[in-house]
Amino acid sequence: MGNVTRGTTNPNRLRRMDRWIVATHGAELRRVADPVAVDLGYGAAPWTAVELLHRLRGAAPRTRVVGVEIEPARVTAALPYEREGLRFRHGGFEIPVSGRPVLVRAANVLRQYDESEVAGVWQRLCARLAPADPATGSRGGLLVEGTCDEIGRRHVWVALGPEGPRTVTFATRLASLDRPSDLAERLPKALIHRNVPGEPVHAFLRDFDRAWAAAAPYASYGARQRWIRAVHALSTDWPVTDRPVRWRQGEVTVRWEALAPRA
Ligand SMILES: C[S@@+](CC[C@H](N)C(=O)[O-])C[C@H]1O[C@@H](n2cnc3c(N)ncnc32)[C@H](O)[C@@H]1O
Repeated sequence: MGNVTRGTTNPNRLRRMDRWIVATHGAELRRVADPVAVDLGYGAAPWTAVELLHRLRGAAPRTRVVGVEIEPARVTAALPYEREGLRFRHGGFEIPVSGRPVLVRAANVLRQYDESEVAGVWQRLCARLAPADPATGSRGGLLVEGTCDEIGRRHVWVALGPEGPRTVTFATRLASLDRPSDLAERLPKALIHRNVPGEPVHAFLRDFDRAWAAAAPYASYGARQRWIRAVHALSTDWPVTDRPVRWRQGEVTVRWEALAPRA
């Protein structure tokens, strides 16, 4: 279910997203006896699925990864890369795997769809996630849906649980950043058309740029110190959910409700 779109991908392109998934979702992957993670729309070559397997197994050694692609020739091309714990399947948003995945990652997939389709796709994918289990404290599976540039220097993604959207994460290579609003061109489909005055994501990026400008004196200690300072200032007015240990990586995560488009 879905449309074939351009297959652009690159080795190591999704390292920032993988790193964040391991840090925030590794415990959920470890909790399950047979954790399945789906790399949905892996593209013309299966690099991102192979890398996802390695990175997730570093944190949760029982994890299996299934790469799902809607373009059949891309599935055929990926088959030689199958190995223990890694399979490739033809399919789309219905997610042709048995059971409920603990992770679905869809990177650079929805950007080529219409904005009006996003809510329906999110709903469909969230319904496929492993459910929350209050008895064990599990919050359930995670859908990570977002966009980045060709070599993964600038990334923005939304994380959703079975109940719906949770957070938005901005992640960047700090050395090549002029200002935080440089990330606007990588906003996921749900937000990219909303970066206009009157919309929360526009106000957020404006405030982030101001905090970045005010933190300019810290640039002499390096871009990382400047980013940490700017995010710290930003967190007085915006619901930042993560801590300096993540900010050091050139990341910041904010509650979805604060950036969600106005109705
Ligand atoms: C731009 S590539 C992204 C590749 C990789 N995820 C990355 O970020 O480097 C998008 C891929 O998503 C696939 N795709 C689009 N819609 C899909 C769907 N509904 N289900 C599975 N794959 C889909 C396209 O065929 C294309 O190969």
